[in-house]
Amino acid sequence: MQIKTAPEALQAVENFTLPDELGFGRVMAPVMVEANYQDGKWSDFNLVPYGPISMLPTAKVLHYGQEIFEGLKSYRIGGNGPFLFRPDQNAKRFNHSARRMAMPEVPVEHFVEAVKELSKVCATIIPRRSGESLYLRPFMFSTEEALGIKPSDSFKFMIVASPSGSYFSGGTISVLIERSAVRAAPGGTGNAKTGGNYAAALEAAIETKKLGHDQTLWLDAITRKNIEEMSGMNFACIIDNKLVTPAITDSILEGITRNSLLKIAPLLDLQVEEKKLTIDELIAAIKEGRCTEAFACGTAAILTPIHQIAEKDGTVYKLSKAPGPKSTALRQALLDIQEGRRESPDPSWVINLG
Ligand SMILES: Cc1ncc(COP(=O)(O)O)c(C=O)c1O
Repeated sequence: MQIKTAPEALQAVENFTLPDELGFGRVMAPVMVEANYQDGKWSDFNLVPYGPISMLPTAKVLHYGQEIFEGLKSYRIGGNGPFLFRPDQNAKRFNHSARRMAMPEVPVEHFVEAVKELSKVCATIIPRRSGESLYLRPFMFSTEEALGIKPSDSFKFMIVASPSGSYFSGGTISVLIERSAVRAAPGGTGNAKTGGNYAAALEAAIETKKLGHDQTLWLDAITRKNIEEMSGMNFACIIDNKLVTPAITDSILEGITRNSLLKIAPLLDLQVEEKKLTIDELIAAIKEGRCTEAFACGTAAILTPIHQIAEKDGTVYKLSKAPGPKSTALRQALLDIQEGRRESPDPSWVINLG
């Protein structure tokens, strides 16, 4: 499969100036990838100038939310690369989400090829300071124009890109435990990357912000005791000198960063444990000084240390080390691999497009 790159797209990149202030996901690259699914097959994949899409008001996605997305990065620190980190895993998770949302799969090779081509075309506009990257956002949505509640028969796949800096500006974050609302339930869509999961978390995000915190920590829907994850990243902590993270269930998104850290930790002599982790156990471990570090991990967050976990009544459990030595070492090892300075545990993880 070859991506067809329009000459106007190359011109658009040439005319683009990277601003000094990037933020996260605010500056858009002037190009995008586009393909359509109709009559049971995918069209060509085209790389074209970034611009609006035209849809009628009855497009099914606007009513029934049949939509999925992914997030990954292309790295070019110090002008090396571009490097991609495990894009095949994003492609596989995309198709897992597609199956759950009754959408067609995108062949893994097409997905990866499209991500590679977009990164190559954008190579000159990928920011170059450590922690910065070209954030890539593949997504797919239903386009059939009809109001009946049934799976769409047509879809659009796109990838847009954003030269980005860090997701959190503060360095460490404060997390609020959500004990009443629920993000995802067993048998639901929590382990698919679909827009509805994120919409369902927004009301809590408003309260989290209002109370002065950065992220919502979700508990399981049934017992309201087991820690699941945050709204856009996984949760992990250091308990008794071990890296502990909630075991994946069907209401937790299986993060590629989380999975990678579980494989990097042993290289840093850090044992790992995936288990059912209750909020009570975490709070007790913080109070007893056995849990000294906790962090958020995800493509956008990279690894961001948590300095406190809070209740809505104002009770705060402070992590004694933020950033702690283990979080710092893990973050550095992960970035060194992603940015092409350190060999990864598996040679297939990093693709050098340079
Ligand atoms: C809900 C949720 N959990 C976890 C993650 C972390 O996943 P990854 O490490 O693959 O970015 C993300 C980000 O994609 C997410 O949106």
